[in-house]
Amino acid sequence: MDRPLPPALSPIAQQLSESSIRTIANFGMTQADVIPLWFGESDIPTPDFIRQAAAHGLEQGDTRYTPNNGIPALRTALAEYQNRLYDQQFDQHNIVVTVSGTNAVMLAAQTCISAGDKVVVITPVFPTLFAVPQLLGAKVEQLQLSQNGHRFELDLDALFHAAKDAKAIVINSPNNPTGWCATKEQIEAICEFARRENVWVISDEVYARHTYEGDSAPSFCTFMRESDPIIVCNSFSKAWCMTGWRLGWLTLPRAITPTITKLIEFNVSCAPGFVQAGGLAAITQGERFIEQTRERFLTARDMVAQALSDIPGVTLYDMPATFYAFVKIDGLAANSQAYILRMIEEAKVGVAPGEAFGLGGSEHLRICYGCDLAVLATALERIRDFLLTHRPE
Ligand SMILES: Cc1ncc(COP(=O)(O)O)c(C=O)c1O
Repeated sequence: MDRPLPPALSPIAQQLSESSIRTIANFGMTQADVIPLWFGESDIPTPDFIRQAAAHGLEQGDTRYTPNNGIPALRTALAEYQNRLYDQQFDQHNIVVTVSGTNAVMLAAQTCISAGDKVVVITPVFPTLFAVPQLLGAKVEQLQLSQNGHRFELDLDALFHAAKDAKAIVINSPNNPTGWCATKEQIEAICEFARRENVWVISDEVYARHTYEGDSAPSFCTFMRESDPIIVCNSFSKAWCMTGWRLGWLTLPRAITPTITKLIEFNVSCAPGFVQAGGLAAITQGERFIEQTRERFLTARDMVAQALSDIPGVTLYDMPATFYAFVKIDGLAANSQAYILRMIEEAKVGVAPGEAFGLGGSEHLRICYGCDLAVLATALERIRDFLLTHRPE
C-alpha cells in the first residue's frame, strides 16, 4: 500500500511527473532481446584518449575540490575552441564549467529566472528545458515549431509576439527531438530581439556538432556581444560520447560569471578534476573523433529515411542535425505509450513517446539512431514491420 506523503513537500516537487521516456525504458529493460532506441545517446564508448587523460588525472591524485567555475586550463581551451568555431573573441571569463548540460541549463535558469516570470520555450523539446523553469516557479508558455510539409519551422513573428513580455526565451537548436535547426539569420534576429527588448535567451546547443550541413550548427556564440542577455549551454555528453561523465559548460557575458560561480558553489561546488582532465583532452584532441562519428550518424540517418519513408500514414521530416528521427504516425493518440509498449513486446524494439517533449510532440515517436549500424538495421526492420502491420487504435 502507498504510504501517505509526509507534510510540507514543495507543491512544485509534488507536481513533477515521471518522464514518459523513463516509463517506457523501465518497462523495456525488463524485456529480453529488446533493442533500446529510447534514450538520447549513442552506443559509442568514450574514446580512449579521453579515458586515458582522466585515468592519468586519477593516478596523479586529482581527486580534490577544484575551482567553482572550472579549472583555468579547461576554461581557456573551451574559449579557444569556440573562437575557432564561431570566429569570436571569448576568453576564460566567458566560460564556466558545469556538471553536465542539464546542470548548465539549471544554472542558466537560476541566473535569470524568478518565480512568477514568464518564460517562452520553443517545443517540442528535451523535457528538462521546460521542467527547469517550472521548477523555479516560472510560468512557462510553449511555442510550437510549425510544420511545413516535411520540415519543422520556427515562426519568428510568433516567437517575438509571445516573448514581448517574457523574462526569457529557451531555445534548443539543433533540436532534440525533431532534428530541426535554426538558421543563422534566425539566431541573429533573436539576438537582436533579446538585446532590444531585454529578454534573456537560454540557448541549449548540446548538439552543435551533430549537424550534417557544415562543421557546427549556427550558434548564438557567433552573434552574442559582451553585454547581451544570452547564455549558451553546452555539454561533453553528445559530441564526445561522454554521457556518463557529467560534464558541460556555459558561454556567457563576463559580467555574470561571478554570479554563476556563486550559484555553482551552492549547487554542486565544482566539477571533478579528473573528469575535467578528460574534458580537456576531448576539447583539444577530439576533432577527428567528431568527424568519424558524424559520418556514422549520417549513414544511420539515411538508413532511417530509406526504411521508413514510404509507409502509409507515417511522416518523416528532414533531418539536418542531431541523431534523432521524429516520426509522425497518423492516428496515434496523444498518449502513445500503449502503442510503444506493444512495439516493445511484439517487435522487440523501443522508442520514445513524442508527447514527452511538450506541445507539438503528440502523435510522434522519437527514434534515436545513434546505435551501431548493424543493430540499427535490425531495429529499423522491426519498426517498419510493426508500423506496416499495427495501426494505432
Ligand atoms: C537538448 C538537450 N540538452 C541537454 C541534455 C542533457 O545533457 P547532459 O547529459 O550533459 O546532461 C540533453 C540530453 O539528452 C539534450 O538532449
